[in-house]
Amino acid sequence: MRILTAGVALAALLLAAPLAKAADPIVIKFSHVVAENTPKGQMANKFRDLVDQRLGGKVKVEVFPNSQLYGDNKVLEAMLLGDVHLAAPSLSKFGKYTKKLQIFDLPFLFKDIDAVDRFQKSPAGKSLLKSMERRGLIGLGYLHNGTKQLSASKPLRVPGDAAGLKFRIQASHVLAAQFEAINATPLKKPFSEVFTLLQTKAIDGQENTWSNIYSKKFFEVQEYITESNHGVIDYLIVTSTEFWKSLPSDVRAQIQEAMDEAVAFGNQVALQKAINDKKRIAESGRSKILQLTDAERQEWIKAMRPVWSKFEDEVGKEMIEAAVASNAGS
Ligand code: LMR
Repeated sequence: MRILTAGVALAALLLAAPLAKAADPIVIKFSHVVAENTPKGQMANKFRDLVDQRLGGKVKVEVFPNSQLYGDNKVLEAMLLGDVHLAAPSLSKFGKYTKKLQIFDLPFLFKDIDAVDRFQKSPAGKSLLKSMERRGLIGLGYLHNGTKQLSASKPLRVPGDAAGLKFRIQASHVLAAQFEAINATPLKKPFSEVFTLLQTKAIDGQENTWSNIYSKKFFEVQEYITESNHGVIDYLIVTSTEFWKSLPSDVRAQIQEAMDEAVAFGNQVALQKAINDKKRIAESGRSKILQLTDAERQEWIKAMRPVWSKFEDEVGKEMIEAAVASNAGS
């Protein structure tokens, strides 16, 4: 009888053994298109490290920078298929999934990045994080990069200087309308192709932040950069609703917490890079940075501002009002 009991106990132990083996960690693939020495690149690496410290063994984050895994034009499809779990495309790249985020592309809407920040933290801004839930995507937060500058192979001081030139744009109807408003030709191209397009003179110019112009060396193949601050490149950190809901709730909460901390870190990096990368470009002597007079800046505003009314129905009048209201403040 005792032998039998011992045998049963042993069998139970052997059966239980495989169950006791540690479960495989949840793998989160985070794909992005920029270099590691950018606000987004730094945020992604910080997030990976925080998750490793706090959830190591349970959750593993793998970061793929520089469009290594997917370009921004493919990443959202891949996310819906479950092939990648996190991305942070620029807010200009969600047009297939929602028209609401187009608000961030309206030229001369925000007076500076603090105004963008206030809007993103407002109830109106926060509601946009959920604007794609019906399509299976959920925003976990915003991340800053900075305001956009215009670079070109010739000096751009007034809108007429850009007439007839070809500009690469992100895949956004608003950005297309913005360049059409100044009689230029917009071309929607992936970020990964911009340097070569500029180098080979297949295009004449592009618009981007100081950190992207610096880290991707656009300043080496563009003779002029106009400090126009006419728009913004910020990001939506996005995941699939299905993946997000599949996570155990305690893990989900810890991931969100790590993400919020990584974003705060990335935003600091963004502020520094907007200053330092501009300085590095100026010091390189490769590109001449042009400042606009007030009168010249007014001309750009006058030429581009009519774009707002074209998108008012899609974006929502009240949303635009909320964004404008965010300009009031320190
Ligand atoms: C671009 O395509 O110019 C940017 O959206 C790249 C990025 O992610 O900052």
